[in-house]
Amino acid sequence: MSHKLFLLPGDGIGPEIMKEVKAIIDWMNANLDVSFETDDGLVGGSAYDAYGVAISEEDMAKAMAADAVIFGAVGGPKWASVPYEARPEAALLRLRKDLGLFANLRPALVYPALADSSSLKKELVEGLDILIVRELTGGVYFGEPKEIVTLEDGQKRAIDTQLYTTSEIERITRVAFDLAKTRSNRVASAEKHNVMKSGLLWKEVVTKLGAKEYPDTPLEHVLADNCAMQLVRRPKQFDVILCDNLFGDILSDVAAMLTGSLGMLPSASLGAPDEKTGKRKAMYEPVHGSAPDIAGKGIANPIAMIASFSMALRYSFEMGKEADMIDKAIATVLEKGLRTGDIAKEGDTVVTTSQMGAAVLEEIKAL
Ligand code: NAI
Ligand code: MG
Repeated sequence: MSHKLFLLPGDGIGPEIMKEVKAIIDWMNANLDVSFETDDGLVGGSAYDAYGVAISEEDMAKAMAADAVIFGAVGGPKWASVPYEARPEAALLRLRKDLGLFANLRPALVYPALADSSSLKKELVEGLDILIVRELTGGVYFGEPKEIVTLEDGQKRAIDTQLYTTSEIERITRVAFDLAKTRSNRVASAEKHNVMKSGLLWKEVVTKLGAKEYPDTPLEHVLADNCAMQLVRRPKQFDVILCDNLFGDILSDVAAMLTGSLGMLPSASLGAPDEKTGKRKAMYEPVHGSAPDIAGKGIANPIAMIASFSMALRYSFEMGKEADMIDKAIATVLEKGLRTGDIAKEGDTVVTTSQMGAAVLEEIKAL
């Protein structure tokens, strides 16, 4: 069976790092019993330059029809003054919305070879492997009313609304528990039920669903502010952290900093399973942006992009074995001392984007 991948390299370093993923896809097609059909589209500033929009309707249709979207990064100073609705980030919001990507998965993994690049002490992070599962389409970023009103006395009042329904909490909770079962089988749910009604409902729904559908998976509740503190104090106590959109935004950035570099961090965003096929719409992308400061120089770290493709294999195509191969190859390349500039220390040999990509592919071939 052939799998449809829609590649959206985007702007800045996006196309440079996507090239390394393409090389892996080509090799897999030629050498493994898999068949990926790929198509390329334009997104962000590059789409604006070509079509005057952040993503064309034709490319949106292709994203909707694909089994997975592999996204690079968008944005850059060149498009700082394009109309608001055509700004590069608008494409990301449109993709998330139209594909219904409500579950955002952000692993924070410390590769053994990089354990001393963390902002924390080596012993605190060595072997760290946590997964933040963030609700992505609800909560305070989207709740209405959302406005700034002028009061009678001339002051202004800003209103954001945190909204969650039982079903929204249930579906993200299932994603977290299902993933925990494939890992160390523990879920920590972060909210603030002590001061927020949405936190109260969150805790209630997660507790009920966990007890009913996942009785063998230990569940812990942690206040979101304490969770942030624990992430910095003793991060290895966590396996899967489940949280809403706002807390997830913050906690995933805290977790990211435990691992060392932005150039290493992948992510996945998943939709609901299709009623007929059971397949989820999905988009995979590095956490970092388009890095305009180093774009065009061929020195970007392609690992976050390659690891995002590995997540696609794992979560969209049930190719856990192949995903493990890629993850192992990345770890080995780092073990051997290869470093792009962003993760290099004094005395390290610094390699280019294509050298790093080629080295990962060589390790995959050797497995
Ligand atoms: P950024 O993530 O692009 O860069 C931050 C710093 O990290 C820069 O010094 C950059 O060189 C470095 N860096 C990032 N990825 C790297 C990689 N793979 N290898 C080596 N070094 C890397 O964030 P910044 O500078 O705040 O934003 C730049 C542009 O990207 C902006 O237009 C922003 O809106 C956009 N952006 C897009 C995102 C997306 O497409 N999902 C996410 C974040 C920012
Ligand atoms: Mg953020």
